[in-house]
Amino acid sequence: MDKKYLIGNWKMYKTIQEATSFMQHLLPQLEAIDRSSFTLFIAPAFVHLPAIGALLNGSTFMQLGAQNCHHEPEGAFTGEVSAAMLADIGVGGVLIGHSERRIYQKEDHRLLAKKVKRVLEKGMQPFLCCGESLEDRRNGRHKAVVQQQIQESLDGIKEIEKVAIAYEPVWAIGTGEVACLEVIEAMHSFIKEILWHQYGSKNVPILYGGSCNPQNAKAIFNCPNVAGGLIGGASLRVDDFIKIVTALLEQKDGTNCN
Ligand code: PGA
Repeated sequence: MDKKYLIGNWKMYKTIQEATSFMQHLLPQLEAIDRSSFTLFIAPAFVHLPAIGALLNGSTFMQLGAQNCHHEPEGAFTGEVSAAMLADIGVGGVLIGHSERRIYQKEDHRLLAKKVKRVLEKGMQPFLCCGESLEDRRNGRHKAVVQQQIQESLDGIKEIEKVAIAYEPVWAIGTGEVACLEVIEAMHSFIKEILWHQYGSKNVPILYGGSCNPQNAKAIFNCPNVAGGLIGGASLRVDDFIKIVTALLEQKDGTNCN
């Protein structure tokens, strides 16, 4: 069974007061949870990383995540943040190629491959996001699109087992429209096959993201090839996030989706 991960992606939400208050409510509730089987990440806006890091106080169970980083090590790139800067302040994992960045910032596969390398060079874990649009799925191109995203964004990566993938169908992100379990499981096992053929590895965790919430999390996490979740909207509310953490904790190994 793959190691499990849960990432709260706060996107461009929460003021510093809201972010610290969330953590002050969340952290005591996590005390009661068995921490051995998975790692939690919280990915606030860049500006909140040091404050949230101070509250986490070096916890290995819950780590700081970043939502992005630049693809060059340093330089004259106004407004950007490097992988080295993130590693320096204790970030453990970085989202790469979230569909919102692919769409709004026009990030392409070649750029993403450089970002993955930078993150690995600095000893952090890249969470490479992939997923098809509704149009791709309607045209039956979903597998080809995801295959291309993965192959090109991981081109030349040697430390494949330090990477995690997040499958997030674009049509399910922030829409409330969750992919059905068969769709999730079929794509996760397809991604496993790609990684096996391209890299000879069966040990790359594949997370699901897209309208995951306390009601559907348990069924999604019970799919055999789902190693956790990337949670947007539902990670903004402590009670919902805790319920999703609990759902992952209760995940049964080797079950069918149900
Ligand atoms: P969502 O977002 O859970 O709000 O659909 C997921 C994501 O964008 O990572």
